[in-house]
Amino acid sequence: LEQARRPSVIWLSFQECTGCTESLTRAHAPTLEDLILDFISLDYHHTLQAASGDAAEEARIQAMEENKGQYLVIVDGSIPGPKSNPGFSTIAGHSNYDILMETVEHAVAVIAVGTCAAFGGLPQARPNPTGALSVRELVRDKPVINVPGCPPIPMVITGVIAHYLVFGQLPELDGYGRPLAFYGQSIHDRCSRRPFYDKGLFAEGFDDEGAKQGWCLYRLGCKGPTTYNACATMKWNDGTSWPVESGHPCLGCSEPRFWDAGGFYEPV
Ligand code: SF4
Ligand code: SF4
Ligand code: F3S
Repeated sequence: LEQARRPSVIWLSFQECTGCTESLTRAHAPTLEDLILDFISLDYHHTLQAASGDAAEEARIQAMEENKGQYLVIVDGSIPGPKSNPGFSTIAGHSNYDILMETVEHAVAVIAVGTCAAFGGLPQARPNPTGALSVRELVRDKPVINVPGCPPIPMVITGVIAHYLVFGQLPELDGYGRPLAFYGQSIHDRCSRRPFYDKGLFAEGFDDEGAKQGWCLYRLGCKGPTTYNACATMKWNDGTSWPVESGHPCLGCSEPRFWDAGGFYEPV
């Protein structure tokens, strides 16, 4: 039997640290292998593709031509804006901005993976030397799904891609373009330390008695009350644990202005 053609996905990496791709490789349901062997045709991805140099760029162009109007673009990393120096970040001699705009022109939708792509992230933090912009600040005429987190939870990345491929439509999004299925509740709403918050029992140091008893980390700077993400329910490392469970406050990594909002270890 002839196998149905898998949807083409072009993954563009711009001003990023590869943490988002590292996270993707830890996905377990579906796994990255399931995703790229059974569900999609990953036609371009700097870190994961075998091709390099001219062959890699030709693969991107070929995928665009053969799947015009049907392929999905995934972006990690922010983009030096058209008003800044395009030489801040280039691939094969082309600016990130030109590659993004060329590649999305005939895409069906764009998924911005990670806080850098979704909101500008670390590259956009003051003083933002490269004039970094998010995907949504540049792509106005296509659906853009934001999957923030620094990095995002692996299963949230694969889950959003799988949802789009299975249902052929965008998931329901919040005001920041995040899928409500994963970003609809705050960390604080689902936190196992919440009963201590409600009783007014707070750790005052990382090694005090309250910390040992699992009390609330709000006074150590936890941003759980203002952060929307699925960490408390989906957890990390195949559901093993997550930052607050392991004793570290939530830093608000899935929110806009993550780096500039300040007060990592202070209540704000
Ligand atoms: Fe790296 Fe975080 Fe940006 Fe992802 S969102 S590329 S993990 S800095
Ligand atoms: Fe809320 Fe953070 Fe306290 Fe959990 S540790 S209850 S998320 S403030
Ligand atoms: Fe990020 Fe907070 Fe989860 S810092 S990883 S949203 S617990």
